[in-house]
Amino acid sequence: MLIALFPGDGIGPEIIAQAKRVLDALGIDGLTYEEGLVGGAAYKAVGHPLPPETLELARRADAILFGAVGDPDCDSLERHLRPEQAILGLRKAMGLFSNLRPAKVFPELADASALKKEVASAIDLLIVRETNGDVYFGEKGMRKTAEGLREGYDIMSYNEEQVRKIAHQGFQAARARRGKLCSVDKANVLETSQLWRDVVIEVSAEYPDVALSHMYVDNAAMQLVRNPGQFDVIVTGNMFGDILSDQASMCVGSIGMLASATLNDSNQGLYEPIHGSAPDIAGQGKANPLATILSAAMMLRYSLNQPEQADRIEKAVAKALAGGARSPDLGGTMTTVAMGDAVLAALA
Ligand code: NAD
Ligand code: IPM
Ligand code: MN
Repeated sequence: MLIALFPGDGIGPEIIAQAKRVLDALGIDGLTYEEGLVGGAAYKAVGHPLPPETLELARRADAILFGAVGDPDCDSLERHLRPEQAILGLRKAMGLFSNLRPAKVFPELADASALKKEVASAIDLLIVRETNGDVYFGEKGMRKTAEGLREGYDIMSYNEEQVRKIAHQGFQAARARRGKLCSVDKANVLETSQLWRDVVIEVSAEYPDVALSHMYVDNAAMQLVRNPGQFDVIVTGNMFGDILSDQASMCVGSIGMLASATLNDSNQGLYEPIHGSAPDIAGQGKANPLATILSAAMMLRYSLNQPEQADRIEKAVAKALAGGARSPDLGGTMTTVAMGDAVLAALA
């Protein structure tokens, strides 16, 4: 089993190092690793954020463990050369369209949530975010209006096949959980969302056992804070899912806690924390590595067929938290490495 390791930028190398230590400690036979360049690190080394050798490694690997990309030095590069193109390019080139972002409160962490403890304790939801379409991948550019004003544009679109595919992912996930699916859109304003809603309703005919509801994204943002316990699975488009998952992370306690898996039709997977490269804390040992460690657990479960090992990691994280492991984002003072140590100690 080959795992492609893509540390990337900012805190990426620091958090990937801790996830790798945890994987090594499991002692799983036959795991091999190859590291690849992505993001600003790749641009600085070879002039492109997603070099061909990296994409080739990604395709060849059984799973990809991704840190984060994004580098303030690169913010003025032409868009196709920016670090973020590495993650967008991997998702698109490999057809990684189904981004699963679970948000669940570890009981030990209910105090870290931005919400009242009794509200936060009820959170156990999964955001199923489409990652191959939407305004992310439409035609975009800069032009001049007739009056000579500068105008930026990004076309938002979804075709029915894209919506159908992610709707099936949402329904199947709901079926395997508590049987509730909330589809989040902006159908009161956007044609893209009207099609989204129509297609989700069509697909629902195949899942009579799943209770489907629809919610506008502005209301969903409010409900996530008011009563997040009402959600089981949320299925939504690329941009709404991006925004709502960062919000959900703070309901759970910290953006440093949320893991993700992004799968394609052949069940190849890319695993990454939902957060970015956090340039404000990079290199200071302040990053919480748990989202990345939990992403490694998702990798073992979804791509490497090692559910028991995934359970071991998740239990070790819970035990480390119960034992008081807290990085600064969780209100503590422990370093990135110390957080890794705490998980390793809990595993042993
Ligand atoms: P960010 O997620 O990197 O950081 C937002 C805030 O959360 C910062 O204050 C940061 O210090 C904190 N934070 C993030 N991860 C943390 C962790 N593990 N532990 C403790 N604190 C953590 O978002 P941003 O600042 O908007 O973006 C920074 C760069 O990251 C940008 O270039 C952006 O494009 C990129 N980005 C990349 C990804 C990805 O690689 N998938 C995701 C999001 C943002
Ligand atoms: C994420 C990130 C990416 C996204 C960026 C870095 C392109 O925010 O994975 O959530 O918007 O999908
Ligand atoms: Mn994001």
